[in-house]
Formats: sequence, structure tokens, C-alpha cells
Amino acid sequence: MASRLSLKVVPDYEALSQEAFEKIKRFATLHPQAVYGLATGSTPERLYQLLRTYIKESGKLSLTQATSFNLDEYSKLDPKHPLSYHTFMWENLFFEAPFKSSHIPNGMAEDLVQECLNYDLLIKQSGGIKLQILGIGENGHIGFNEPSETWSEGTYVADLHPSTISANARFFGGDQSKVPTQAITMGIGSIMAAKQILIMASGANKAEAVRAALLGKHTPELPASCLQRHPNVTWLLDKEAASLIRD
Ligand code: GLP
Repeated sequence: MASRLSLKVVPDYEALSQEAFEKIKRFATLHPQAVYGLATGSTPERLYQLLRTYIKESGKLSLTQATSFNLDEYSKLDPKHPLSYHTFMWENLFFEAPFKSSHIPNGMAEDLVQECLNYDLLIKQSGGIKLQILGIGENGHIGFNEPSETWSEGTYVADLHPSTISANARFFGGDQSKVPTQAITMGIGSIMAAKQILIMASGANKAEAVRAALLGKHTPELPASCLQRHPNVTWLLDKEAASLIRD
């Protein structure tokens, strides 16, 4: 299969967000009924702000015929909890840019394994993800697919790596003991099934993960290296995140 890797380096986080926004605006205009895979974290925050503001103020774009699936959600955290990914998506995007239907795994489900199976079924029934937005963890994780000995497939319950707990503690007042230790996440197989992927990284703390994902070995020990084998992926980096792949 012909493969398309595009890599763009822009000066800073603002330029990165603008670039991603323009790409999604073009895509959404061409494909009003598309199915999106959405990410949380601080990286897409400004992108979502640009998108929701444009949708609300210009009246030129709408996502009300589109469908979204979020990558992941903490387990055992109430969807109404201020730090749940449900709350994040509502506050950052959905309240001003609603989709026809939006799906986020339910980390409070009584039967988490069944919840994962249902989530995969819903993605399948939607016709599959056309555009997947991704961030990357400092340890190379995507979604909550942590460094591991094997590649994951569909949605599953993941144990958070200690380095992820430590990185995400900043959202929980710096208290690692408050960070959930598990999450439901789409697997690497689910992510690789998306037709198109847009992965964004900003900041020097992501530089090594970006370098390893793009230029290192294809290994589940660096989950984002799976993208080396995806047929249509765009890497959008700011200068700092790209600092170890440039001359
Ligand atoms: C989190 C999320 C990922 C996200 C990554 C980077 O733990 N599960 O989906 O891409 O870590 O987050 P940030 O963008 O805040 O650096």
C-alpha cells in the first residue's frame, strides 16, 4: 500500500494549533459526516478553542452531522469529575461545537471489559474513524497505550505507567496519589485502523519521544512508533518538539 508521511515543523504552540485548526477546518468542510477520533491533554486545547470559536462565531462550519470517539478515559473517575476526559471534552469543545453523536469510554462501567467490547462495536458500526487526532506522552504513549512488550489491539483497560501518573499529576494538583491508576483506551490496533492520523507534539519534553517514534525502532516499547507503518499520517511539531530530529 502506498504510504504518506507528512511532517511539518512550526515555530511554536500557537502556530501548531493554527495549522491543525486549518487542516481540520478543510477536512470538516469536505467531509461533514466524518467520524473523528479525538484526544485530550494539554496539546489539543488551543486547537479545540480555535475550532469551537470559529464554529460559534463564523457560522461557516458545523460538526452536527459528524461523529466523534474519544481515545480514552480514566477508570473509576466519575464522568462529572472536573478532571475526567468527559468534562474536558465538554468544556473544551462539545459545549460550543456539538457533534451529531460523541462517544467517550465509560470508566465507571460495572463491567469494564464489556464496556471496551461495546466501544469497539460502536466504532465499527459508525463505519470506522476517518481522522484520528493524537497527542504523544513523554514516554511515547498514544491514548493510554503505555510502553509494553506487545502491541495492543482493540479497546482495553490499561494500567498507567508510573511516568504517566507522574506527568499527569499536574492536573491533579501535583498529587500523584490522586491520579487514577487505570484507564480505558482505544488500542494500537484501533488507532492504526483510522484512515488518517494527525499527531501533534509541542515542547522540549516531547522531543525524545518524537525522535524515537519517527526515527527509532518499530517497537511496542515506544507505542507511537506504530505510526511508522500507518499509510497516512501527519506529524505536526513545534521547534522544541522537533529539536532532536533536526540537524
Ligand atoms: C495523556 C493522554 C494522551 C495525551 C498525552 C499527552 O495521558 N492519555 O491522549 O496525548 O497524555 O498529553 P499532553 O498533551 O497533556 O502532553
